[in-house]
Amino acid sequence: MQNDVVLKMRGIVKQFPGTRALDHVDFTLRKGEIHALMGENGAGKSTLIKVLTGVYGKDAGSIWIEGGGDEAHIHSPQDAQNIGISTVYQEITLCPNLTVAENMFIGRTSGSVVHWKDYEKRADELLKNLGIPARAKQELSRCSLAVQQMVAIARAVDMKCKVLILDEPTSSLDDKEVAMLFGLMRDLKARGVGIVFVTHFLEQVYEVSDRITVLRNGQLVGEFTTEELPQVELVAKMMGKDLNDLADFEAVGEKSTGANEVVYEASGLSSSECRPYDFNIRRGEVNGFTGLLGSGRSESVRAIFGADRVTGGKVRIKGKDVKITNPHEAMKNGIGYLPEDRKRDGIIADLSVRENIILALQVMKGFFHPMSKAQMTQFADEYIKALKIKTASQDTPIKSLSGGNQQKVILARWLLTHPDYLILDEPTRGIDVGTKLEIQKLVLKLAEENMSVTFISSEIEEMLRTCSRLIVMRDRKIVGELKGEQLTQSTVMKTIAGGEQ
Ligand SMILES: Nc1ncnc2c1ncn2[C@@H]1O[C@H](COP(=O)(O)OP(=O)(O)O)[C@@H](O)[C@H]1O
Ligand SMILES: [Mg+2]
Repeated sequence: MQNDVVLKMRGIVKQFPGTRALDHVDFTLRKGEIHALMGENGAGKSTLIKVLTGVYGKDAGSIWIEGGGDEAHIHSPQDAQNIGISTVYQEITLCPNLTVAENMFIGRTSGSVVHWKDYEKRADELLKNLGIPARAKQELSRCSLAVQQMVAIARAVDMKCKVLILDEPTSSLDDKEVAMLFGLMRDLKARGVGIVFVTHFLEQVYEVSDRITVLRNGQLVGEFTTEELPQVELVAKMMGKDLNDLADFEAVGEKSTGANEVVYEASGLSSSECRPYDFNIRRGEVNGFTGLLGSGRSESVRAIFGADRVTGGKVRIKGKDVKITNPHEAMKNGIGYLPEDRKRDGIIADLSVRENIILALQVMKGFFHPMSKAQMTQFADEYIKALKIKTASQDTPIKSLSGGNQQKVILARWLLTHPDYLILDEPTRGIDVGTKLEIQKLVLKLAEENMSVTFISSEIEEMLRTCSRLIVMRDRKIVGELKGEQLTQSTVMKTIAGGEQ
């Protein structure tokens, strides 16, 4: 091992049922560096950390730690700690009703007689040394969240850690607290600790890190020095794009000119999962929310449909004030929503294709007004033909259809309710290219027939093909709105990345 390297991971594989979360990933951490581990949600960051800290076993690969000689065998978090790897998770795992000193030393005192006075003295020294504004005897719950996190870090440091892992430590801190935490990180860095920093906040990466490792779909994209990787290129790499190789995309049909009247309008709409935002859509318009996975785009549209707990905002539909606090009210107001996670929120696996198709309409009519079998058969037949759903019969359980055909069934379900406004969250994920294109074309055809559609996709090219307006999100905020000439891959990516271009 080179002598400035404190941790080396090579060829790490971690397989979950159905998902290869890590596929031969390499990671190298040097002494006294802050190394950002980046990737969209689901890229494998937390899994890599859990393998390193002994929470998960690995299926293949090797780990070396400085001064540890041969390969390190880490089978538990305790093993990791013993060889100098410490983790501070986002959810603080300390005990709020104990004192700061107790939290720093609990579980680590040796011998039967505990000399708390000594520990308190040591705690105070360490806190002072690290510039953490807390006192040993103070109850931890009386400290701010940032200080609590810093105490957790102080605990790690006193355990003589070589590698400190911070997984999203700043997500609930304000600017001042972030600055304080960064101060502590820089201080530890100067003492030679290698710090792995996981965050959603791109700006923070550029403020504090020396080096960046990017993961995507469980694979290593590359390792870069922060200085040499412009923010927009980082975003491109996280999304699996090469900035030098961006094509533009032809629309798959006529896009709306945006001249029609507004059909849905929200101001200050917020939910338990999203911050207040303003939004509108016109008749026959297709617009979309774009941003990295985890930027808040799904949470935003879920608020429109009342799928999460709505906490505020004014909504007008066709000029009239309405209140939408749950999906049923949304449906009564002419809104349809195809969720991102069709396994969880979408299909009812054991029901037939027919029953899955008529479900939303039946909910709207109310279960006390069941449809006749003949009517259901007719509806199902009509949509199976219209959307070219490949199924042996209407009676086939939906779970035996391919992913693309399941998706079409759910689309049929919503089309049958004739919504004025249809929200499609990742309608084409995991389906074949041909079916993707059919769905894109269908979206534009529906818009031509005056339906309004909000479309979300991780593939920018799909959105460019279908949307006449893109709302761009970063870190759970809307940071831009693009239309016309601005609808190019590079502009979208620059807007997602923000910062200096
Ligand atoms: N305990 C688990 N069981 C099954 N799949 C998991 C488990 N943990 C993570 N995954 C899957 O592994 C992939 C990587 O997840 P994760 O490491 O949490 O990503 P990140 O932290 O980058 O958002 C995802 O597809 C996720 O669904
Ligand atoms: Mg994670």
